[in-house]
Amino acid sequence: SPTCKVYLFFVRIKPLMKFTLKIGSLEQAQTEAIALFVWEEGFTPYADQIDRVLGGFLKKETLRRQFKAETGKFLIVPSYKKLFAEKVILLGLGKKADFNALKARQVFAALAKKLKEEGIESLGFANQADFEFVQALVEGITLGSYQFGKYKSVGPSKEKETEKEIVILVKDARELVSLREKLTRGEILSQATIFARDLVNEPSSVTTPTYLASLAEKIGKNSKFLCKIYEKEDLKKLGMGALLGVAQGSDEPPKLIRLEYNPPSPRLRRARKIVLVGKGITFDTGGLSLKKQNEMETMKMDMAGAAAILAVFSVLEKIKPRVHIIGLMPVTENMPSGKAIKPGDIVKAYNGKTIEVVNTDAEGRLILADALAFGETLKPDLILDIATLTGACLVALGEDIAGIFSDEQKLVKEISQAGEAVGEKFWPMPLEKTYRELLKSETADLKNVTGRHVGGAITAALFLQEFISKTPWAHLDIAGPAWQEKGTDLLPRGGTGFAVRTILNFLEA
Ligand code: BES
Ligand code: MG
Ligand code: ZN
Repeated sequence: SPTCKVYLFFVRIKPLMKFTLKIGSLEQAQTEAIALFVWEEGFTPYADQIDRVLGGFLKKETLRRQFKAETGKFLIVPSYKKLFAEKVILLGLGKKADFNALKARQVFAALAKKLKEEGIESLGFANQADFEFVQALVEGITLGSYQFGKYKSVGPSKEKETEKEIVILVKDARELVSLREKLTRGEILSQATIFARDLVNEPSSVTTPTYLASLAEKIGKNSKFLCKIYEKEDLKKLGMGALLGVAQGSDEPPKLIRLEYNPPSPRLRRARKIVLVGKGITFDTGGLSLKKQNEMETMKMDMAGAAAILAVFSVLEKIKPRVHIIGLMPVTENMPSGKAIKPGDIVKAYNGKTIEVVNTDAEGRLILADALAFGETLKPDLILDIATLTGACLVALGEDIAGIFSDEQKLVKEISQAGEAVGEKFWPMPLEKTYRELLKSETADLKNVTGRHVGGAITAALFLQEFISKTPWAHLDIAGPAWQEKGTDLLPRGGTGFAVRTILNFLEA
C-alpha cells in the first residue's frame, strides 16, 4: 500500500565475501593463503601433493602441533615462499564416515570466523576431496558471516571491513562450468536464507501484517509473479472466521497473502501444483491466554513459516523449478485486548467447520485452518505447511530438528532428503489417529486444544489435518529450529532461516 514504508532486504549493502573461479593450480594461487582439507584418517591426495612441494613441512607441523583434524579445527602453517600464498590453512574435516552436508557447512562457517580473526583477506581453494564442497563453502561462509546489526550504532557490523575474496581453482573449462553452477546455487540459497533471517530478526513493530503484504507485492512485481492480498473485508466475504477471530484483538489488520509462480516454459503449464502455507503470526502474546514473560520474549519469530515462503519466492525466478507454486500466508498479530477473542468463543473456518477456542495461545492452527482449507480449493497435487506451531515440538526435538508430519511416507522421505542435502534435519512424527478424539468439543465441531500437556505437537498436527479432505499434505513444525537461543558459527543467535533451503531443494527435485 502507498502509505506503508517498505525497507527491502533484497540486497544487503555490500557482500563482504566474493567468490571467484579460476583455472589454475593451488600452488600458483595468488591469494594470501590456500586451504587444504585434512581428514582424521590423514591428508587428502591433494594435500599430500602440496606437502611434497613444501618438503614435508605440513605433516611435520601437524605432528609437532598435535593437529588431529577434528571437524572445524584449523592449523595455519607458513609456506616460507615455496608457494605464492604466504600461508597454508589445514582444515580439519573429522572422520570420513561422520562427514555430511551439515558438517561441511559448519566447517566453512567456522572458517569464516577464523579468516576474520586472522585478518586473512584472500583464500585459495581447489576441488580436492571426494565431496561436493563448493555449494557448502558458499553457504557456510555466507551464513556464518551473517549478522543482524542494522540497529546497532557501534559494533562489529558497523566496523569498516574490507571485502574478502575466496578463489576456487579448477583444472579446466569443464570443471569451471560445473562448479560455477554450484557456486551460483550456493549464493542463491544463502541469499534466500538471509532474507528469511532478516525478516524474523526484524522487530514485530516493523514486520506487521501490512509490511509483509507490501513485501510480497514487491516480490511479485520484481519477479512478475501474481500477488494478491486478501484484506479484512475479503476474509469476511470468504468466511475465514478462524483467522479473523485470532486477529480480532489486534489493531493491525490481518491479511492473507497469496503469491503464485508458474514455470517459464509453456510446455510445463500442466506441471504439478504445490501449495505452500506459512504461519505468519507477526507477534504471539498468546492473546487472553497470555504467555509468561520469558515465553513471550522471542515471539516476533512466530512468522518464521511465512518468512520462509517469502524467502523462497524471492529467489524462485532464479531457480525456475518445474512446478506451479502457490504461496499462502495468513498473517496477523495475536494480541489481548477488549476486543480479543475469549476462551470458549466459537469461530467458523473457511470449510464450514466450527472451532471452540479454548486457548487463545493455540492460534497458529486457527489461522492455518483457514489457509489450508482455502489452499485445497485451488486443487493442488500437494499441500506443504511450515509453521512455528508448538512448544511441544521444541521440547520433543530440540532446536536442531524440525518435526515432519504426513501420511505420505514417500513425501516424508523426499523432504527429509532434500533437507539432509543442505544440512537441515527433519524427523518423522506420527499422526496418531487415536488422539483425534481428544480434540472433540462439547459445543463445536472441534476444539483447538486438548487440555492435556501431552503429545502437543501431534494433536496440533491432527487439528490441521481436519481442514484438508483428500489432498496429499505434509506439515513441518519448525518451532525449534526457526530460532537459535544461543547460536553457533553457522546459525548466529536469532532467526535461522530454517527450511528455506530445504524447500527450494525439494521444489527443484
Ligand atoms: N507460537 C507458539 C509455539 C512456539 C512456542 C513456537 C515456542 C516457538 C517456540 C504457539 O502459538 C503456541 O503458543 N502454542 C502453544 C499451544 C498450546 C496452548 C496448546 C504452546 O506450544 O504452548
Ligand atoms: Mg500461541
Ligand atoms: Zn504462535
